Amino acid sequence: MGKVTMTVNGRARSAEVEGRTLLSSFLRDGLELTGTHVGCDTSQCGACVVLVNGQAVKSCTAFAADLDGAEVTTVEGMANPDGSLGRIQQAFQDYHGLQCGYCTPGMVMSTAALLAENPKPTEEEVRHYLEGNICRCTGYQNIVRAVMAASGQDVGALAAE
Ligand code: FES
Ligand code: FES
Repeated sequence: MGKVTMTVNGRARSAEVEGRTLLSSFLRDGLELTGTHVGCDTSQCGACVVLVNGQAVKSCTAFAADLDGAEVTTVEGMANPDGSLGRIQQAFQDYHGLQCGYCTPGMVMSTAALLAENPKPTEEEVRHYLEGNICRCTGYQNIVRAVMAASGQDVGALAAE
């Protein structure tokens, strides 16, 4: 066991971890940030995506002990300071980019990473970027519309599901 400290959603947070403790467990069990979902634990689904030093990372694939000092953003950190939904979250709600919501935290975090590097992606670029995020409910179309809307682009030409 050893103590790990990270800046999570702008706050220094610490917890005792074992060498094999995954970042997803550190966040969910150690810090009670359960917005990060675990859908597979085998690096397939993307429900567990968070930002680590600005990069989208599947938190079930990273060891917390390796990330001492890292800056981590989870879906809880995507809300506005007053607690209302942030821009990307609001777009997912407005454009019905979710059904059960299990994939949504990962979708939101991957979208944040995409828009940070490509603020005005094409539909094709959105679909390509989100290939690592699996949704079992929607047909992805409304997710793509939500991402396009979050980027401030017109989604009128994209049919809704
Ligand atoms: S839980 Fe991490 S990719 Fe599925
Ligand atoms: S909304 Fe259910 S898995 Fe995507």
